[in-house]
Amino acid sequence: MSNIHMKISDDWPGYSLDLFSYPAHYSGDLDCVIIPHGVIMDRTERLARNIMDELGDHDIVVLCVLKGGYQFCADLVDRIKALSRNSNRTIPMRVHFIRLKSYLNDQSTEDLHILGAEDLSFLAGKNVLIVEAIVGTGKTMKTLLKHVEAFGPKMIKVAGLLVKRVPHSSACVPDYVGFEIPNRFVVGYALDYNEYFRDLNHICVISESGKLKYKI
Ligand code: HPA
Ligand code: MG
Repeated sequence: MSNIHMKISDDWPGYSLDLFSYPAHYSGDLDCVIIPHGVIMDRTERLARNIMDELGDHDIVVLCVLKGGYQFCADLVDRIKALSRNSNRTIPMRVHFIRLKSYLNDQSTEDLHILGAEDLSFLAGKNVLIVEAIVGTGKTMKTLLKHVEAFGPKMIKVAGLLVKRVPHSSACVPDYVGFEIPNRFVVGYALDYNEYFRDLNHICVISESGKLKYKI
Protein backbone atom coordinates (compact mmCIF):
# COMPACT_ATOMS: atom_id res chain seq x y z
CA MET A 1 0.00 0.00 0.00
CA SER A 2 1.68 3.11 -1.18
CA ASN A 3 -0.51 5.49 0.80
CA ILE A 4 -1.02 5.71 4.50
CA HIS A 5 -4.33 4.26 5.58
CA MET A 6 -6.35 3.66 8.70
CA LYS A 7 -5.44 0.36 10.25
CA ILE A 8 -8.00 -1.39 12.41
CA SER A 9 -6.16 -3.89 14.60
CA ASP A 10 -7.21 -7.48 15.27
CA ASP A 11 -8.02 -6.75 18.92
CA TRP A 12 -10.24 -3.73 18.17
CA PRO A 13 -13.61 -4.69 19.71
CA GLY A 14 -15.60 -2.20 17.64
CA TYR A 15 -18.34 0.09 18.91
CA SER A 16 -21.46 -1.16 20.66
CA LEU A 17 -24.47 -1.11 18.36
CA ASP A 18 -26.37 0.73 21.10
CA LEU A 19 -24.28 3.84 20.39
CA PHE A 20 -25.75 4.26 16.92
CA SER A 21 -28.99 3.85 15.05
CA TYR A 22 -29.43 1.04 12.55
CA PRO A 23 -32.38 -0.80 10.97
CA ALA A 24 -34.39 -2.62 13.64
CA HIS A 25 -34.79 -5.62 11.35
CA TYR A 26 -31.12 -6.38 11.94
CA SER A 27 -31.19 -6.41 15.73
CA GLY A 28 -29.41 -9.52 16.95
CA ASP A 29 -27.75 -10.06 13.57
CA LEU A 30 -24.66 -7.95 14.27
CA ASP A 31 -21.80 -8.09 16.79
CA CYS A 32 -20.49 -4.55 16.63
CA VAL A 33 -19.95 -1.48 14.47
CA ILE A 34 -16.42 -1.69 13.14
CA ILE A 35 -16.53 1.55 11.09
CA PRO A 36 -19.31 4.11 11.67
CA HIS A 37 -20.81 5.69 8.57
CA GLY A 38 -19.51 9.15 9.43
CA VAL A 39 -15.93 7.91 9.60
CA ILE A 40 -16.32 6.25 6.19
CA MET A 41 -17.48 9.57 4.77
CA ASP A 42 -14.61 11.52 6.36
CA ARG A 43 -12.03 9.07 5.09
CA THR A 44 -13.62 9.08 1.61
CA GLU A 45 -13.31 12.86 1.45
CA ARG A 46 -9.57 12.57 2.01
CA LEU A 47 -9.19 9.72 -0.50
CA ALA A 48 -10.91 11.93 -3.09
CA ARG A 49 -8.26 14.60 -2.54
CA ASN A 50 -5.41 12.12 -2.84
CA ILE A 51 -6.95 10.75 -6.03
CA MET A 52 -7.37 14.20 -7.59
CA ASP A 53 -3.77 15.07 -6.74
CA GLU A 54 -2.61 12.15 -8.87
CA LEU A 55 -5.29 11.69 -11.53
CA GLY A 56 -6.72 15.17 -11.80
CA ASP A 57 -4.60 16.26 -14.75
CA HIS A 58 -6.54 14.36 -17.38
CA ASP A 59 -9.94 12.84 -18.20
CA ILE A 60 -10.96 10.25 -15.62
CA VAL A 61 -12.95 7.10 -16.12
CA VAL A 62 -14.21 5.54 -12.91
CA LEU A 63 -14.77 1.79 -13.12
CA CYS A 64 -17.15 0.83 -10.34
CA VAL A 65 -17.07 -2.82 -9.36
CA LEU A 66 -20.62 -3.93 -8.50
CA LYS A 67 -22.48 -4.73 -6.43
CA GLY A 68 -20.55 -4.04 -3.25
CA GLY A 69 -18.77 -1.01 -4.67
CA TYR A 70 -21.84 1.06 -5.52
CA GLN A 71 -22.07 3.05 -2.30
CA PHE A 72 -18.36 3.77 -1.95
CA CYS A 73 -18.18 4.69 -5.62
CA ALA A 74 -21.17 7.04 -5.40
CA ASP A 75 -19.78 8.80 -2.33
CA LEU A 76 -16.24 8.96 -3.71
CA VAL A 77 -17.43 10.39 -7.03
CA ASP A 78 -19.49 12.94 -5.09
CA ARG A 79 -16.40 14.13 -3.22
CA ILE A 80 -14.33 14.24 -6.41
CA LYS A 81 -17.05 16.35 -8.06
CA ALA A 82 -17.03 18.71 -5.08
CA LEU A 83 -13.27 19.19 -5.45
CA SER A 84 -13.69 19.77 -9.16
CA ARG A 85 -16.42 22.38 -8.56
CA ASN A 86 -14.36 24.24 -6.03
CA SER A 87 -11.14 24.47 -7.99
CA ASN A 88 -9.86 25.78 -11.28
CA ARG A 89 -9.03 22.32 -12.52
CA THR A 90 -12.16 20.95 -14.07
CA ILE A 91 -11.79 17.37 -15.15
CA PRO A 92 -14.34 15.46 -17.23
CA MET A 93 -15.26 12.23 -15.50
CA ARG A 94 -17.15 9.20 -16.72
CA VAL A 95 -18.51 6.45 -14.53
CA HIS A 96 -18.78 2.92 -15.85
CA PHE A 97 -20.11 -0.14 -14.05
CA ILE A 98 -18.81 -3.67 -14.20
CA ARG A 99 -19.68 -6.77 -12.31
CA LEU A 100 -17.29 -9.53 -11.38
CA LYS A 101 -18.18 -13.15 -11.00
CA SER A 102 -15.75 -15.83 -10.04
CA TYR A 103 -17.29 -19.24 -10.07
CA LEU A 104 -15.94 -21.37 -7.28
CA ASN A 105 -18.15 -21.33 -4.21
CA ASP A 106 -17.67 -17.62 -3.77
CA GLN A 107 -13.90 -17.91 -3.71
CA SER A 108 -11.99 -15.66 -6.06
CA THR A 109 -10.42 -17.77 -8.75
CA GLU A 110 -8.38 -17.18 -11.88
CA ASP A 111 -11.56 -18.03 -13.77
CA LEU A 112 -13.01 -14.55 -13.43
CA HIS A 113 -16.03 -13.39 -15.40
CA ILE A 114 -16.24 -9.67 -15.99
CA LEU A 115 -19.70 -8.48 -16.99
CA GLY A 116 -20.05 -5.13 -18.74
CA ALA A 117 -16.43 -5.13 -19.81
CA GLU A 118 -16.72 -6.53 -23.31
CA ASP A 119 -15.67 -3.32 -24.99
CA LEU A 120 -13.65 -0.96 -22.84
CA SER A 121 -11.95 0.73 -25.77
CA PHE A 122 -13.08 4.12 -24.42
CA LEU A 123 -10.44 3.65 -21.71
CA ALA A 124 -7.64 4.23 -24.20
CA GLY A 125 -5.51 7.20 -23.15
CA LYS A 126 -7.64 7.91 -20.07
CA ASN A 127 -6.84 7.96 -16.37
CA VAL A 128 -8.72 4.96 -15.02
CA LEU A 129 -9.79 4.61 -11.42
CA ILE A 130 -11.06 1.17 -10.41
CA VAL A 131 -13.29 1.41 -7.35
CA GLU A 132 -13.86 -1.66 -5.18
CA ALA A 133 -15.46 -2.03 -1.79
CA ILE A 134 -13.23 -4.77 -0.46
CA VAL A 135 -9.98 -6.42 -1.45
CA GLY A 136 -8.93 -9.74 0.05
CA THR A 137 -6.12 -11.72 -1.51
CA GLY A 138 -5.97 -9.31 -4.42
CA LYS A 139 -6.19 -12.10 -6.99
CA THR A 140 -9.46 -10.77 -8.41
CA MET A 141 -8.01 -7.30 -8.66
CA LYS A 142 -4.91 -8.60 -10.42
CA THR A 143 -7.01 -10.33 -13.07
CA LEU A 144 -9.15 -7.24 -13.58
CA LEU A 145 -6.06 -5.03 -13.91
CA LYS A 146 -4.68 -7.29 -16.63
CA HIS A 147 -7.98 -7.03 -18.51
CA VAL A 148 -8.11 -3.23 -18.23
CA GLU A 149 -4.45 -2.74 -19.17
CA ALA A 150 -5.14 -4.36 -22.55
CA PHE A 151 -7.26 -1.34 -23.56
CA GLY A 152 -4.32 1.05 -23.29
CA PRO A 153 -5.27 3.56 -20.57
CA LYS A 154 -2.83 6.33 -19.72
CA MET A 155 -2.82 5.38 -16.05
CA ILE A 156 -4.67 2.88 -13.85
CA LYS A 157 -5.19 3.34 -10.13
CA VAL A 158 -7.23 1.26 -7.73
CA ALA A 159 -9.24 2.56 -4.81
CA GLY A 160 -10.37 0.00 -2.24
CA LEU A 161 -12.43 1.08 0.73
CA LEU A 162 -11.41 -1.96 2.74
CA VAL A 163 -8.38 -4.20 2.57
CA LYS A 164 -8.66 -7.36 4.60
CA ARG A 165 -5.62 -8.84 6.32
CA VAL A 166 -5.98 -12.34 4.90
CA PRO A 167 -3.25 -14.99 4.57
CA HIS A 168 -1.47 -14.95 1.20
CA SER A 169 -2.50 -11.43 0.34
CA SER A 170 -0.34 -9.05 -1.73
CA ALA A 171 -1.18 -10.34 -5.22
CA CYS A 172 -2.42 -6.79 -5.67
CA VAL A 173 -2.88 -3.98 -3.19
CA PRO A 174 -4.94 -0.87 -4.01
CA ASP A 175 -3.21 2.47 -4.53
CA TYR A 176 -5.80 4.15 -2.31
CA VAL A 177 -6.99 2.29 0.77
CA GLY A 178 -9.69 3.49 3.11
CA PHE A 179 -9.18 1.06 5.96
CA GLU A 180 -7.15 -2.04 6.62
CA ILE A 181 -9.35 -4.45 8.59
CA PRO A 182 -9.04 -7.78 10.42
CA ASN A 183 -9.95 -10.99 8.61
CA ARG A 184 -13.59 -11.03 9.72
CA PHE A 185 -16.78 -11.02 7.66
CA VAL A 186 -18.14 -7.48 7.52
CA VAL A 187 -21.42 -6.15 6.17
CA GLY A 188 -23.10 -2.81 5.55
CA TYR A 189 -22.39 0.21 3.36
CA ALA A 190 -23.39 -1.97 0.37
CA LEU A 191 -21.41 -5.00 1.51
CA ASP A 192 -23.70 -7.99 1.77
CA TYR A 193 -24.14 -11.40 3.27
CA ASN A 194 -26.32 -13.29 0.77
CA GLU A 195 -27.73 -9.95 -0.41
CA TYR A 196 -28.73 -8.83 3.10
CA PHE A 197 -27.28 -5.84 4.97
CA ARG A 198 -26.74 -3.58 1.96
CA ASP A 199 -29.36 -1.32 3.60
CA LEU A 200 -27.14 -0.70 6.62
CA ASN A 201 -25.05 2.49 6.78
CA HIS A 202 -22.27 1.44 9.13
CA ILE A 203 -19.74 -1.29 8.44
CA CYS A 204 -20.45 -3.98 11.00
CA VAL A 205 -19.33 -7.44 11.98
CA ILE A 206 -22.08 -10.00 11.44
CA SER A 207 -22.98 -12.20 14.43
CA GLU A 208 -23.08 -15.98 14.42
CA SER A 209 -26.87 -15.90 14.71
CA GLY A 210 -27.02 -13.43 11.83
CA LYS A 211 -24.98 -15.83 9.68
CA LEU A 212 -27.39 -18.64 10.51
CA LYS A 213 -30.50 -16.55 9.96
CA TYR A 214 -29.56 -15.52 6.41
CA LYS A 215 -27.76 -18.71 5.41
CA ILE A 216 -28.83 -20.26 2.11
N1 HPA B 1 -18.12 -8.91 3.50
C1 HPA B 1 -18.86 -8.88 2.37
N2 HPA B 1 -18.41 -9.31 1.19
C2 HPA B 1 -17.15 -9.78 1.15
C3 HPA B 1 -16.33 -9.82 2.28
C4 HPA B 1 -16.84 -9.38 3.52
O1 HPA B 1 -16.18 -9.40 4.59
N3 HPA B 1 -15.14 -10.33 1.89
C5 HPA B 1 -15.25 -10.59 0.56
N4 HPA B 1 -16.44 -10.26 0.10
MG1 MG C 1 -21.21 -10.15 -1.79
